[in-house]
Amino acid sequence: MHGETIEGYHVEAFAEIFRASDIGPHETVAILAETGSRGINVAIAELALAQLGVRPFRLVAPTPKMGAMIVRSTGASRVLAGAAMAPLVAAMKAADVVVDLTLEGLMHAPQLGEILAAGTRIQVISDEHPDMLARMPPDPALKEAVRAAARRAREAKTMTVTSPAGSDLTVDMAGAQTVGIWGWTDKPGTLAHWPGGIVVSFPRAGTVAGRLVLSPGDMNLTYKRYVESPVALTLEGDRVVKVEGEGVDARLMRDTLAAWGDADAAAVSHVGWGLNPAARWDALTMMDKADTNGTELRAVAGNFLFSTGANEFAGRFTEGHFDLPMMGCTISLDGTPVVEYGRLL
Ligand SMILES: [Fe+2]
Repeated sequence: MHGETIEGYHVEAFAEIFRASDIGPHETVAILAETGSRGINVAIAELALAQLGVRPFRLVAPTPKMGAMIVRSTGASRVLAGAAMAPLVAAMKAADVVVDLTLEGLMHAPQLGEILAAGTRIQVISDEHPDMLARMPPDPALKEAVRAAARRAREAKTMTVTSPAGSDLTVDMAGAQTVGIWGWTDKPGTLAHWPGGIVVSFPRAGTVAGRLVLSPGDMNLTYKRYVESPVALTLEGDRVVKVEGEGVDARLMRDTLAAWGDADAAAVSHVGWGLNPAARWDALTMMDKADTNGTELRAVAGNFLFSTGANEFAGRFTEGHFDLPMMGCTISLDGTPVVEYGRLL
């Protein structure tokens, strides 16, 4: 990864995703960006769409100022907030497709439901260096694996997660909303993000309890770093009520949660697992932090992806968000493992 040069393989990789999403000249396509967006990806998206005969238009919102608290990797973009941005939302609702190149993405944005309800499909391209995106082209087998996994999650009454480090979590899956993301979408009114390869369930309020123990090699993607010392999370009524641990990782999480000062930031956002064989656990060591939003790490095959923060299905919107991919866990649905000691079954 050197500099900001557009390579032919970048354009080809973006075009492949757009082709998989069945984007064509017959459609109106908006590119949603913000002033702070990764410019090279905006340019690549335009070139790739042009290859497909599409004439996209740009919608660019000003990047919102950060509050006193540093918030990142939330998946809850704030760029559309406020009456001043209402025309942008209207334009997105009028378009067939939105290519989302905001820094955070619209996955948990409060405006998402309204835009999808208009029939718009949203292709989020994660804020990653294009070299990393190009490593994960659309994979039809991944789509089938994700759809099968999502079906199983939807049918399940209970999810349990255990690990040799002492995790023992139970999720009541009744009424949970499950989403399968394989990286692209050709269905009106849906959102996909690239890279994909994740099944996530948004549990109802009050349905998660137990203990999760983060171990060295697990990740905290808010910090974009590997955990190096154990962190024990106690969950009651789907909230993290205690963060225990002697090391810097536990100290960081306690400090950040306190700074967010929002009980919803400690509540469960989503639970699920990664399925993408092209996503690598060691990827975070190969990139500067500025080059990644960590989406690849969320999709590593066999991880347990646990997250706190915004849960649109439980009616909670908050900027605080921890995405914590955990390795080596056993995930079972109604007693049948789907991931065993971190290995996808
Ligand atoms: Fe998340």
